[in-house]
Amino acid sequence: MSVNVEFGPDGRHGIVAEGTYLWDAAKRLGLRLPAECEGRGECDGCAVIIKEGTPLLSELTNAERERLSAERLALGERLACQAKIERPGNLKLEPVPVEDREETVEETKFELREEFRNLPLQKKLTTLVELEAIAAYQTFKAISDLSSSAFEKGLDVIAGFGRARERRARQSHRPAEHRAENQEGKQA
Ligand code: FES
Repeated sequence: MSVNVEFGPDGRHGIVAEGTYLWDAAKRLGLRLPAECEGRGECDGCAVIIKEGTPLLSELTNAERERLSAERLALGERLACQAKIERPGNLKLEPVPVEDREETVEETKFELREEFRNLPLQKKLTTLVELEAIAAYQTFKAISDLSSSAFEKGLDVIAGFGRARERRARQSHRPAEHRAENQEGKQA
């Protein structure tokens, strides 16, 4: 038995088999939903709104209950990587717009790239200088953090050597019989 799936808002549609996850159904129809967590139910990039055919889908998973608020669930949202089509019929759905879900890293990068591309040349140069200054500061900070911890470790090692040398020196200044006692104590 097959399922007729229609993805809004552009109305692309097609037939998929029962047992198909919504994410795969979207892919089959040429729509690649974001999957930042690779389908583990840990992001909400693949969220879709079910417009028709909710009873065709599997029960909500724990991941969906955790990731989607009660309000979003009430609106009919599902995570496409978690919801499986279990029964035949007609299904209408659409991706949750990016304004209503967390932006993925890729989307943020794309947006920043676009923003940068549209800056006037002077502003682009100023931004680059600022970014370079931030990068230089972060690099300097990372190096100084690293070197201070390496420096502290070095001090510990030197202090350890110093303490051992002092101990040996103290032992060599002890009365001979005590040294002998110490030797016996060590051997006992
Ligand atoms: S891909 Fe992350 S929740 Fe679906």
